Order: sequence, then C-alpha cells, then structure tokens
Amino acid sequence: MKKYSVFDCSMIELDRHHSDRKGNLTVVENGMTIPFDVKRVYYLYDVPGGEDRGSHAHKELEQLIIAASGSFTVILDDGNCKRSFFLNRPYHGLYVRPGLWRDLVDFSSGAVAMVLANDYYNKEDYIRNYDGFIEFRQAIDK
Ligand code: TYD
Repeated sequence: MKKYSVFDCSMIELDRHHSDRKGNLTVVENGMTIPFDVKRVYYLYDVPGGEDRGSHAHKELEQLIIAASGSFTVILDDGNCKRSFFLNRPYHGLYVRPGLWRDLVDFSSGAVAMVLANDYYNKEDYIRNYDGFIEFRQAIDK
C-alpha cells in the first residue's frame, strides 16, 4: 500500500461551461476529468452552524470533495502534516488520497459538500479513532 501525504492531495479545477446570463454547468466524466472512476456520490447538507463532519480516515477510498453550494474547509492530516483547503466554488474539487485523516469544518449556511468516491460504502474502510489512525500510518512503513 502506498503511503500518501497531504502534499499528494490537490485542488482540481473542473471545466465550466458558461452560458451568458443563464448560469454555469460543470461536468465530471470517469477517466477524463478526475483520476478515478466514480462508483458512489453522496452529499452533506443542512449542517448546523458550528458543527464539524468527517473526523475519520479511509484506508483505501479515494474521493473528490466539492462545495456544490456555499463553503467549508477541509483539513487533511497525514500524521505528520496538516493542510487546510477552503472550498467555495462548485468547479473546484479536492482530490483526497487514501489513508488520510480529514475534518470538515466551518460550514457556511446552505453549504452542500458533494463527494465523489471510487467505491461503494464500506464501514470496514473507516478509521474513526485518531490513535488507531496513527497506528495505521506507522504500519504502512513496515
Ligand atoms: P459518516 O461517514 O459518518 O459521515 P461524516 O463522516 O461526514 O460525518 O456517515 C454518516 C452516516 O451515513 C453513517 O451512519 C453511515 C451512513 N452512510 C451510508 O450509509 N452510506 C454512505 O455512503 C455514507 C458516506 C454514509
């Protein structure tokens, strides 16, 4: 298993089809726009002010996180470094590699966090305990 750091994660600028005075449209296509094929889409919304989401890592899942509406901050943590990404554009996607802890914080009112994922929901893929996450990271070295 490859051990990714927060510096392996980046913002991907998605294309934007602009129609004058009629709004914009963004497309995501498997294998073309993003580095993985999408098997699952889910979205978080109605997050009350001051509440955080996330607080877990995925062992294998790859994700693209998009602020489909409003804004929020994603804090990624690889056990050594943390990186903060402010998402506030529906045409920006944060590519999150496997094996990283994430916290989603500072949701604006009306924020919608849309997540594209390369696999189906599997609760065995989650690490929800931070100490367990650090042990998981150390085990990748071995
Ligand atoms: P969870 O991943 O804990 O949300 P967050 O990390 O953003 O706080 O998911 C919340 C609940 O939704 C949990 O009971 C599991 C369920 N869930 C699914 O059933 N399928 C899914 O694809 C996801 C992402 C969550």
